Amino acid sequence: MRVLGIETSCDETGVAIYDTQKGLLANQLYSQIKLHADYGGVVPELASRDHVRKTVPLIQAALHEAGLQQGDIDGVAYTAGPGLVGALLVGATVGRALAFAWNVPAIPVHHMEGHLLAPMLEASPPDFPFVALLVSGGHTQLISVTGIGEYRLLGESVDDAAGEAFDKTAKLLGLDYPGGPLLSKMAQHGQAGRFTFPRPMTDRPGLDFSFSGLKTFAANTIREYGKDAQTQADIARAFEDAVVDTLAIKCRRALDETGFTRLVMAGGVSANNTLRQRLSDIMAKRGGAVFYARPEFCTDNGAMIAYVGTIRLKCGGTQTLGVSVRPRWPLAELPTIE
Ligand SMILES: Nc1ncnc2c1ncn2[C@@H]1O[C@H](COP(=O)(O)OP(=O)(O)OP(=O)(O)O)[C@@H](O)[C@H]1O
Ligand SMILES: [Mg+2]
Repeated sequence: MRVLGIETSCDETGVAIYDTQKGLLANQLYSQIKLHADYGGVVPELASRDHVRKTVPLIQAALHEAGLQQGDIDGVAYTAGPGLVGALLVGATVGRALAFAWNVPAIPVHHMEGHLLAPMLEASPPDFPFVALLVSGGHTQLISVTGIGEYRLLGESVDDAAGEAFDKTAKLLGLDYPGGPLLSKMAQHGQAGRFTFPRPMTDRPGLDFSFSGLKTFAANTIREYGKDAQTQADIARAFEDAVVDTLAIKCRRALDETGFTRLVMAGGVSANNTLRQRLSDIMAKRGGAVFYARPEFCTDNGAMIAYVGTIRLKCGGTQTLGVSVRPRWPLAELPTIE
């Protein structure tokens, strides 16, 4: 079974084709980063308009890359939420129209289920059950995963997401949007321990997070000390260490609470090397295992949508012509699969 996947929830247009026998046959990605750079963040209307320009050419490129024709596709999956409503509507409209024209099912996919299951695209995918740490630009969640669609939220950020905190702090350090990866690079040259940032909400029980205070702490530290390049790197290091430490403490708690021995990290921040290293060390010590996707499948991409499309198609796609998207959509509302 072959599914074409379309991702347009934010500032990346992604199109991919996944084959249940042969794996990924095509993967096309266009990032709008340059388009939004001058504004220091994503401008929703510009994002929607650029998806309009890029989605169809990328679908053509994906079919060409895979050496396939329209008749070779068994379903069209598209991100139906959560995300920016205008951006989502582009992928949803194109996906539904294509599915109708090709006479195949259209499959609405949950963007965060895409992130969550992206590590399944790797050579050694995790078995169920596992604890998932979803850390992206819009989400920081710990989830108990016992099967496809069996998602129990254990904890989440009460304010900024981890990626958002990275990007806002990077901006304070004068780095371009999205600054998360650039801040992490800067932190490599920073001296550990020169500054100590708080580990928010770790002094009380529970699995929720709060990252907005770290940004304020960074702003104050930069204002007071951050004049030279070395000090800025030291601040970047202190910030990254605080985020990684906080995530690590809560992951340990979630593993203790569930008794699971596998940890899956997903979403853009799971590309962070310091976080990968820390969680790998923790899991090695516990005699468990950590799983993550290759860096290009941590951030938004069409491959994860095509992959989830093949799984969700098994519980039935739809042929209706109505196009609906959900800018807000709790993962726990998804149906399970036998
Ligand atoms: N190496 C890294 N270190 C820290 N942060 C990173 C790294 N690489 C990417 N990020 C962050 O990941 C985020 C982007 O991830 P992703 O594309 O999954 O988020 P999103 O799609 O915007 O949000 P969501 O999936 O919640 O809707 C950005 O905030 C970016 O700064
Ligand atoms: Mg995303």
